[in-house]
Amino acid sequence: MSGFLLIFPQIFKSNTLIKNNSVQEIIETARVEDVIQDFVSLKRRGANMMGLCPFHNEKTPSFVVSPGKNIYKCFGCGRAGGPVQFLMEHESFAFPEALRYLAKKYGIEIEETQASQEEIIARQYLDSLYLVNQFAKEYFQDQLFKTDLGKSIGLSYFKKRGFREETIKKFGLGFTTDQRDSFTQLAMKTGYTLDSLKKLGLTSKYDRDFFRNRVMFTIHNLSGKPIAFAGRIMIKDAKAPKYINSPETEIYHKSKVLYGAYFAKQAIQRQDECILVEGYTDVISLHQAGIENVVAASGTSLTTDQIRLIKRYTPNVKILFDGDFAGLKAALRGIDLILEQDLNVKVVLLPDGEDPDSYLQSMGTTAFKTFLEESAQDFIFFKTNLLLKQVGNDPVRKTELVKDIVTSISKIPDPIKRSLYIKECARLVDVEEQLLINEINKIVSKRLTKHRANSDKGSLHKVEAKQLSDSLEVPTAPAKEASVIGDEFQEKDILRILIAGGAELFDKEEKVTVAAYILSNIEDVIDDFDNANYQKLAKLAQEQVAAGNELSTQFFIQHPDPTIQQLAINLITSPYELSENWEKRFEITLQTQKSPELNFTLDSVQALKRFRLRKIVKMCQKNQEEIKSLSAKGDVEKMMIHLKVQVKLTAIRNDLAKELGTVVL
Ligand code: CTP
Ligand code: MN
Repeated sequence: MSGFLLIFPQIFKSNTLIKNNSVQEIIETARVEDVIQDFVSLKRRGANMMGLCPFHNEKTPSFVVSPGKNIYKCFGCGRAGGPVQFLMEHESFAFPEALRYLAKKYGIEIEETQASQEEIIARQYLDSLYLVNQFAKEYFQDQLFKTDLGKSIGLSYFKKRGFREETIKKFGLGFTTDQRDSFTQLAMKTGYTLDSLKKLGLTSKYDRDFFRNRVMFTIHNLSGKPIAFAGRIMIKDAKAPKYINSPETEIYHKSKVLYGAYFAKQAIQRQDECILVEGYTDVISLHQAGIENVVAASGTSLTTDQIRLIKRYTPNVKILFDGDFAGLKAALRGIDLILEQDLNVKVVLLPDGEDPDSYLQSMGTTAFKTFLEESAQDFIFFKTNLLLKQVGNDPVRKTELVKDIVTSISKIPDPIKRSLYIKECARLVDVEEQLLINEINKIVSKRLTKHRANSDKGSLHKVEAKQLSDSLEVPTAPAKEASVIGDEFQEKDILRILIAGGAELFDKEEKVTVAAYILSNIEDVIDDFDNANYQKLAKLAQEQVAAGNELSTQFFIQHPDPTIQQLAINLITSPYELSENWEKRFEITLQTQKSPELNFTLDSVQALKRFRLRKIVKMCQKNQEEIKSLSAKGDVEKMMIHLKVQVKLTAIRNDLAKELGTVVL
């Protein structure tokens, strides 16, 4: 069972760790319906239970709890998870806290192991860094509220900006004077080491205070502890930067932090939306006005880690852009990153020269809120319209525009969403839908070629595949498949079976599990997945099975990595939800059967065949092209090899097609 255990982070509580076998026992014991019923009243509906979603406001219940699958899912806001996840979201528990809660509820005795001396020291060291920062935060606050300079410069500045005293306190705002090392000296006298002050960037290497003559902003982590500071300059001095920030430290990883997240997280969940602004002052100002679901990336452009952080609370992001056009185009590129993470992005463009803070102050809260509601545009349409305005009737520039938009759309992982965007954008730009589809396919296949070239693993098959894909010309995928990237459907189907039924027996006599059967059959093409997320899941499953572990559904849906967990839940909760649509739209015949749970053997055989057929057809096409180009070059020797490969591939392909009753063109 070691592989299963490995994935859990070391869990600390003071000087002990929860033993991994306790973790596992808790996870296997906890029942989702028990846990949730302590907080939400649920009514039985057939095999499931329903209630009002505790994560968003609703009047008709769309929160479904499935005791059978041991998960909950809200069909209104999309939140989903198992018992542990519910506690983490609903009670804002950290993972170990949720485990302790469950252990208590079910009377499971937690086995703890004594942490090693090194672990204790490491923990104490980190704790001490927070303590130093807490001391600094209080120092800056004292300077602001209790000194004459602080009051006359700092406090009056904040008040002029409209910040109320309670807001100033809540956000840990402060002030520092221009003295050389008053803070450092006081900190040392109080007992903090020079070493830790320097590590945290509070003291410079020349033993001077790092932050001087600035108003101070405390940056908190998700549990509200101070992890870093930013200081804004008070004098208009062109030489010094407007803001200076704490350096990266063991407790402050800039790219993973969103300013204001601690104060915003509950509102983000409640409203199922995260507002993203640029500045510290924007966050504070909006928060004070009652718009609390707001965070800032603070200075850097948004990173993937920051997007993932948002995604823990909501799939909906509203970005407020300052009204200066120059920065806008660059900012738009960053948004593709957000699309890749499958978030819904809306954009609000503020009038020229305004930032969220200034505009809010000039309009007043009510009008500002209405403005946010009414002028929010879907990102893709916003971008399309914006670019359209610049392009006019110039055909060359219009082509560029199409490429640009299509690049953004191609980043959206959800095929249904993608095809809706294509339709609408084709209308906006006034081009044939098919043209956009072709462009997307080009981009996607380029990306795939690159991806494959990068994942060279050396077996003969893969070397061949790599040769083939290197010589790949852009294939025009069949129009019917619209914007589905490659073989996503087939991949999805396989993963669904793997997760829902991996532990079932495929062959009762031989004691082969469905997981073992599937995995052994996709081993040779596991690096050729078109959807990176499905691939990640498949590889994770592979690791588990290789480590000799059983591949339980709970392993996936209670996985600590939220990406895996959410993906798994989506796969097992809505496999056929959209099947009618898909069938119409893509002419893909999905299997319809009454209870797929009971039929994993047949199901996996069929799904595998479809999956392999797709991969083989692709290989055939590529090989064919290679033959063509070799023949053009007159390289007969190589061509012969590829011809042999072609014969083999074609035979496999025909066999598969026959078994599936499909005709391959
Ligand atoms: N920023 C930074 N370093 C700078 C300038 C800006 O880190 N030298 C970051 C800060 O997080 C800042 C954000 O970029 O909050 C936006 O910058 P700006 O709009 O200039 O600052 P505001 O926070 O809006 O400050 P103010 O309203 O006081 O001008
Ligand atoms: Mn500003």
